Amino acid sequence: MTHIRTVPTEPIEGQKPGTSGLRKKTTVFQSHHYLENFIQSIWNGIGGVEGKTLVLGGDGRHFNSQAAQVVLRMAAASGAKKVIVGERALLSTPAASNLIRKRGADGGIILSASHNPGGPEGDFGVKYNAGNGGPAPEGITDKIFEATKTITEFRILDSQDVGLAGTGTVMLGDMEIEIVDPVADYAELMKEIFDFDAIHALFRSGFTMRFDAMHAVTGPYARMILEEELGAGPGTVINAIPLPDFGKGHPDPNPIWAKTLMDEMMGDHAPDFGAASDGDGDRNMIVGKHCYVTPSDSLAVLAANATLVPAYAEGLKGVARSMPTSGAVDRVAEGLGIDCYATPTGWKFFGNLLDAGRATLCGEESAGTGSDHVREKDGLWAVLFWLNVLARKQCLVAELMDAHWKEYGRNYYSRHDYEGVDSEAANGLMDHVREQLGVLPGNEVAGMKVTSAEEFAYDDPVDGSRAEKQGLQIGFEGGSRLVLRLSGTGTEGATLRVYLEKVETDPAKFALDPQVALAPVIAAAEAIAGIKTRTGRDAPDVIT
Ligand code: G6P
Ligand code: ZN
Repeated sequence: MTHIRTVPTEPIEGQKPGTSGLRKKTTVFQSHHYLENFIQSIWNGIGGVEGKTLVLGGDGRHFNSQAAQVVLRMAAASGAKKVIVGERALLSTPAASNLIRKRGADGGIILSASHNPGGPEGDFGVKYNAGNGGPAPEGITDKIFEATKTITEFRILDSQDVGLAGTGTVMLGDMEIEIVDPVADYAELMKEIFDFDAIHALFRSGFTMRFDAMHAVTGPYARMILEEELGAGPGTVINAIPLPDFGKGHPDPNPIWAKTLMDEMMGDHAPDFGAASDGDGDRNMIVGKHCYVTPSDSLAVLAANATLVPAYAEGLKGVARSMPTSGAVDRVAEGLGIDCYATPTGWKFFGNLLDAGRATLCGEESAGTGSDHVREKDGLWAVLFWLNVLARKQCLVAELMDAHWKEYGRNYYSRHDYEGVDSEAANGLMDHVREQLGVLPGNEVAGMKVTSAEEFAYDDPVDGSRAEKQGLQIGFEGGSRLVLRLSGTGTEGATLRVYLEKVETDPAKFALDPQVALAPVIAAAEAIAGIKTRTGRDAPDVIT
């Protein structure tokens, strides 16, 4: 017997979705009514779930299973028709996006704090994706936030937990629950996109690879696709078992947090190709033997070689990058004669461009790359794209990068993060730079001539919506650039991100250490923003 309970509640402060859903400490999500309030506010914000079909899954972090049961009970209590859920409540973010699209669902709930650490002391998150499979646009997240401020009650079914181990269909009250293999549909989609025969032949020829799943959700996906389908040797995928605390690691695929992989790739016995993905499987890191590829360069290389991939053989409709991402892809777009869009940080801003057929490939400096095959960035897809290109070109990553830079020039790029900075100090720093925007152009700072200075705002060319205050952007003579913004995904204090870029066209200077090449821009950033004094830090916490 099931019984719908209506529970009186009060608004809880701070339930404002950020760059990518609502992210808080796990303990916060576990506190009284916190999750229930937010889920009910999603239902209220999207006009209810009565008669709707939803997709549900998460990255397997601590509290994933319990939260999934709450979502199921609350969906049933509010009259949802059906929920399609990944076995054991697991689904990578791109796999969830694919399922929403493929099954024509009305939307989905993804339980994840992406690359943030998990566990009782770590972070948890809830994200609502719309019917196109993409993160809810601001119009929807604003409504959800409004609903969190006016909520007076939530509805939940009184019932036992639903068994989610094993595929099949069960009923919860009047709602159907279809439990699906989290990998199967996604693997099928990858087969439709890429030249699996060419990649298979590449591995047969002795090409070696290491994929670090970082104890996060892509382990089962990578094992199935790389090792079983494509014949990469056993042991290619490491840290393949998803763990609730990611093995106490930080599931963010960058040179700092994927250091073991980086060390192997830079060592004497490096495999030909290395890659990693994050907590929920939407980010990627690409690293060749002795050659790290920045996410910005990765996007540019994929765009330049896209026609080698069956799904993109006809060419790209356009490309898009987030504003702080380097301009490397702009040069490729120019060469191909296609449009290139610069959007604010956050994958949701690509949704309209993809839906409208204006862009085929998108990417962000924050290790996200994707295309119109789903409406999320997609870690494993990016890895397969690289493998497809290498298989067709019959070359190594370092050779491909060299050839690319010779053709397009090299955009040296780095991001310096200052984490857990006092919020007031961080806002003060931004205000301080904001005040200088009007006077900087034409002046010289630390020996660099400023050519432009603006606070980035984005007018969506598809729906005309405007997003303001999306980062401070300062251009220098010769194409160098400095961007400052505060992260929208942190859970403690403020994270200041300093993005640095310098364009180099002289082939004799393509092999510099990026920090050395960028030294003048770094000096200008310090002179303009006074980072050291204002944050009280001598050096960034993370450099990528
Ligand atoms: C998430 C979003 C990305 C975004 C990234 C960094 O991963 O999906 O689109 O680029 O966060 O956001 P932040 O606000 O922390 O710089
Ligand atoms: Zn992620």
